[in-house]
Formats: sequence, C-alpha cells, structure tokens
Amino acid sequence: MSKGHLSSGWAATPVGAVTETVAAYDLGAEEYSQRFASVDFQRYLMTFLNELPARSVVLDAGCGPGRDLARLSNLGRAVVGLDLSSGMISCARRAAPRAQLANGDVRFLPFAGSTFGGVWHCASLVHLSPPDVTRAVTEARRVLLPNGVLFLSVASGEGAEWRPAGNGRRWFHYYRLSQLIRIVEQAGLVVLSAAEEPGIAHGKWINIFSRKSA
Ligand SMILES: C[S@@+](CC[C@H](N)C(=O)[O-])C[C@H]1O[C@@H](n2cnc3c(N)ncnc32)[C@H](O)[C@@H]1O
Repeated sequence: MSKGHLSSGWAATPVGAVTETVAAYDLGAEEYSQRFASVDFQRYLMTFLNELPARSVVLDAGCGPGRDLARLSNLGRAVVGLDLSSGMISCARRAAPRAQLANGDVRFLPFAGSTFGGVWHCASLVHLSPPDVTRAVTEARRVLLPNGVLFLSVASGEGAEWRPAGNGRRWFHYYRLSQLIRIVEQAGLVVLSAAEEPGIAHGKWINIFSRKSA
C-alpha cells in the first residue's frame, strides 16, 4: 500500500482526547465562565436570529457556561443548551435559568429530527477531528427544521495540538475555510455566508451560516 494511501491528511486524534478535554473543562468551568463572560457575539447572534424560522426553538450545541444561551433566552427565544461537561452545564443552569439543559455529545444529539429552528455551534467543534466535525454537522442538520439555520464558529488554521488548561490540557483541531465549507455542503446544508474573520476574543476564526433546505 502506498504512503499516500495511508495518509489521512489530518492530525490523528489521540485516544481519549475528547474525554480529557472535557475533563479539563469540568475542572475549569467557573474560570472559563468568568474569562469569556464579556465576549460579545451580538453581531452573529443578530444575523442568526434574523434567519430563524418564526417561533422556533434554538439549540446551543456545546453551550459551555451559557453566555450565548442566556443572551438568546433573554431575547425571548426558547432555548436548549447541550454540553458534554457537567461542570459547564451547572454554570449554564445558573446563567440561563429558563433554558432546558442536556448533558450530551454534539456527535450524537439526543433529540428527534426536525426539532430546532436554529443550531448555534460557537467554538464547540474546535476539539473535534474532521470526521467528528462531519458527524456533528450531519447531526445538526438532522435536528434542524426545514429552513432551519446552523451557525458554526471554529478557530482558523492547520493541524492539531494539545494546549495546557489549568491542571489539565485540551486537544484543539484547526480548520481552513474551504475545508469547513466542504463539510457543511457535504452534510446537505446550503451555505449562506462563510468568512475567515478576526476572532471576537483572539486569533482568526471561521464563521459560517448555513440553511437546511425546505
Ligand atoms: C471553547 S468551549 C465553547 C463554549 C461556548 N459555546 C462559548 O462560546 O463560550 C467548548 C465547549 O464544547 C464542549 N464540548 C467539547 N466537545 C464536546 C462534545 N463532543 N459534545 C458536547 N460538548 C462538547 C466543552 O465542554 C466546552 O463547553
């Protein structure tokens, strides 16, 4: 077999990387919550809200401590937050008391098809390999209503690495704009806008709005 045949084209994810990453979030949930509380995604949230089917429910997938969940809830939206870290879910429960919350995995969403008008994926796919991101985007499409909208925001770059976090570490994957557009389109979504932009908090980020066809 040729070397090219063996090459995957993306960094292999260490066994247990997601579990270890989520454990680091559990330990650092309060600290993360305070550090990123003032990060303001208002511009993206407004575009997202304007594109949503009327009166539909929003899923914040990988909601973390619930910053955006609380904003959406305070704007009158019915919201559901999901995160694999129970520490993050506890923070989100305090931040957005009206939201429904679920401890679950974005790769295996515990919801019926055609449930949500929008899925908000803000910085929640940054720990997943391309096959896992494909799975998560496919899941997002499944749970969207026809005309429902998906927002994705991931760090721009190449490769993958461990980054220290408190007493633990987190595994990060970086993506190119064209790569993520391909994943979104292959999942059967129509791209509304896609750009690499300065991050709200740091670095360069890829932001994509897409829609499930009617
Ligand atoms: C960088 S934080 C982003 C949190 C929040 N969306 C924000 O914008 O502040 C990534 C979040 O994704 C969660 N996460 C990572 N992998 C996940 C998975 N497979 N399923 C669900 N949540 C996951 C982590 O627990 C963490 O809360």
